[in-house]
This record gives sequence, C-alpha cells and structure tokens, in this order.
Amino acid sequence: MDRPTRREFLKTGALAGLGALGGDLLGARATLAGEVPRLASAGLAAPVVIASRNGLRATERAMELLEAGSDSLEAVVAGVNIVEGDPEDRGVGYGGLPNALGVVQLDASVMHGPTRGAGAVAALEGFKHPSRVAMAVMQYTDHVLLVGEGAKRFALEMGFKEENILTDSARRRWLDWRAGLSPDDDYLTPEQSEEGVSGFGLLDAWEGRRRYGTINCCAVDAAGNLSGVTTTSGLSFKVPGRVGDSPIIGAGLYVDNDVGAVGSTGRGEAAIKSCGSMLIVERMRHGLAPVDACLEALRRIVRFTVEKRLLDEDGHPNFNVNFYAVNKRGEHGAAAIWSGSRYAVYDSKGNRLEDSAYLLERAS
Ligand code: GLY
Repeated sequence: MDRPTRREFLKTGALAGLGALGGDLLGARATLAGEVPRLASAGLAAPVVIASRNGLRATERAMELLEAGSDSLEAVVAGVNIVEGDPEDRGVGYGGLPNALGVVQLDASVMHGPTRGAGAVAALEGFKHPSRVAMAVMQYTDHVLLVGEGAKRFALEMGFKEENILTDSARRRWLDWRAGLSPDDDYLTPEQSEEGVSGFGLLDAWEGRRRYGTINCCAVDAAGNLSGVTTTSGLSFKVPGRVGDSPIIGAGLYVDNDVGAVGSTGRGEAAIKSCGSMLIVERMRHGLAPVDACLEALRRIVRFTVEKRLLDEDGHPNFNVNFYAVNKRGEHGAAAIWSGSRYAVYDSKGNRLEDSAYLLERAS
C-alpha cells in the first residue's frame, strides 16, 4: 500500500518539503514530459498563515506551532479548534446554528500538502471538532469523505467524545426562526405570544438572517510545505443532510504542495458549482497572484449566477462568497464578491486583519 503510515505522515511534514524545495533551487529535478508546472520556492516569505475574518486566534495559534516546528496541518487544525470550541461563534463547531430540525450538522475538510493527503466529514452530528475527525479520516482510512451516520460511527470508533453541541443560545435562535416561518402554523413568534418578547427573548441583535458562518485556515511553513482546513456548521436552518462546500475537496478547500492553498467561506453552493478553490490553485499554478486568482473565480461565480431568486434588483448575486489564498512563496490574498470583507493573516509583519479585494461595492 502506498499510503503513508502515521509515523511517515508526521515525518514528511518536516522533511518532504525540504526535498522539494532543494530540488527546485538546485534545478536537480528531472522534468517529465507534460509535467504540471510548479511554483518555484525561491524568495520564500514563509511561514505564513491566513484565515477567514473569524480566524485571528487560529492564525496566532498556528503560527506559534509552526515556529515551534509543528507540521503545517497540525498547526492549522489546532488553530481552528479554538474557534470550533467557542460557543460564541455560531457558524462553527460547538455553538453552531442547527439545521431546520434543530440538529447541528457539521462539515469539515483537511488537506496535507507534503503527503497529498485529504480527509473530510459531512453532516456529522455530536462532535465539537469535525476538523479532527476529518484529519482522522485522512490518516486512518483509505477514503476521503465520510458522511452522516458513517462519519459518526467512525468518530466514536476513533475515540472522539460525543457531546451535545447545540447551545441554549443556538437552540433559541432556531426556535425564533421556526416560529417566524409561517403565520399559518401553530408556533408563535414572541409578538404573537401573549408572553410577548419574553417568550424567547432573543430577537435582540439577531435579525433573523440565515448564515453561512465558516472558518478556513491555510498555512505555508518555512520549508514551503502547505496545508489547509475548512470547518463549519454550514447554512443555518438548512435542509437536514444539506452539505456545503467546506468538506468538498476542490470547492471549500484545495491544497497543492507545488503551488498553494485555498479555502472559501460564504454560499457553499456557489463554491461547489465553480470548483472555486481548485480553480484558484490552477490559476496560481499558471502565474496569477493569489488575489487575482481569487477574483477570477468570483467573476465566474457572478457570471454563472442566473437564478432570479439569487439576484438582487440590479441583477447581482444577493449572496457573498469569499476566497482566501496563499502560494508556496508565502504570497497571499483574499477576495469576495461584495466589498467589506476582511481576512486574517500572520506573516513577518505580525498577526492582523487585512481588507479583501472585491468585485462589487455595497451601497453604504
Ligand atoms: N461555506 C459554508 C457552507 O456553505 O456551508
């Protein structure tokens, strides 16, 4: 079997990329006829960690681990574990908003550049850290994606602890959403209830909007090795069983150790239909800067969005998609369909949020 053992996986994190980097710099690698181009690693500005806007704590932790010599995948997964475990982040892991039946179903994927490994879970119920289960799928099975009951069974077999991950606050937001679905059903909104707003009492800052909250985190280490992770509770109040882009390799995440790492947040259906992350890696392979590659994928999404229900009065998408990209040299960028997005980056200038590029300006 060609698959790396766990011990090999841990070793290659530190060593395989050095080989690739040395090969590039010395020009010692023979080129096969028709071989796909790779980015040269010369001028490497790594380590660099990037993440979605909610990922500043993830980039901080991942950089700390990279600087301590950790493997790039372990670093980014440990980073997003902080957000997965945070009940205040309603788009990820513990505290994530549930599906239409009030059940939290989580999606996640990981890719490890040096070993070309990939693992993912979808519609996983009852575990705070789906990214860890996705990593276990990569390391301990010959598969890439496990879903639903099978993913849960696997997680239990691997020793992950099943927990109630629906927080009281997320449950009450779901009750609000359900009560507002139809005036003709028997669920009362706080306004309809004789109890008034004291019924659920959670209409404060909550505007009733549905969300695609997600965290993506990608890193390139000092040797030029890349990894990435995307993890989410998906679209709030989704149809049970709905799977977004986050666990779909090539959509919500793609890593090619010769080129770069890309992830997405926002409307998963659009990232899936465009194979967005894969497309961006391919554009970077052929020389586009990360931000320009992200913008190109977004232009494609805009062009392909023709359904009336998804367009605003000006004919533009009424949703957002964000892409985040870092290449093998440590150059990074992010872009969104709509203005106002930011992304987290930790490089030689420190840990901060930067503005994402965009295609369309929101009216202020
Ligand atoms: N991008 C997250 C989702 O659509 O589920």
